[in-house]
Amino acid sequence: MPTVTVENEKSFDVEAGTKLVLALEDNGIDVLHRCGGQARCTTCRVEIVEGEVTPISEAEIEALEEPELIEKFRLSCQIHVQSDLTVRVAKRAHIEDITPGPRPQP
Ligand code: FES
Repeated sequence: MPTVTVENEKSFDVEAGTKLVLALEDNGIDVLHRCGGQARCTTCRVEIVEGEVTPISEAEIEALEEPELIEKFRLSCQIHVQSDLTVRVAKRAHIEDITPGPRPQP
């Protein structure tokens, strides 16, 4: 079972194949996600500090748009956790004072 670590905060085990945005949310990390996991809003973006994830998809490249964002971030709604990961969550609901949107589909 892979372990997800949110840098300087907490670690938790998740079922292999779990969407990262859901793994974060279900383990008490208030990651923002406004578009329901449709790769449109980019609020769910994370930095991958350590670990392997699938290559960035065309949908993510299109959503992130800016080369510096594409280099730095991935969309947690587009990543299925397959192995241990350490991430930095870019936007948190309690900091941005924004209510997350609909729950992304598993
Ligand atoms: S891009 Fe909107 S929830 Fe991931």
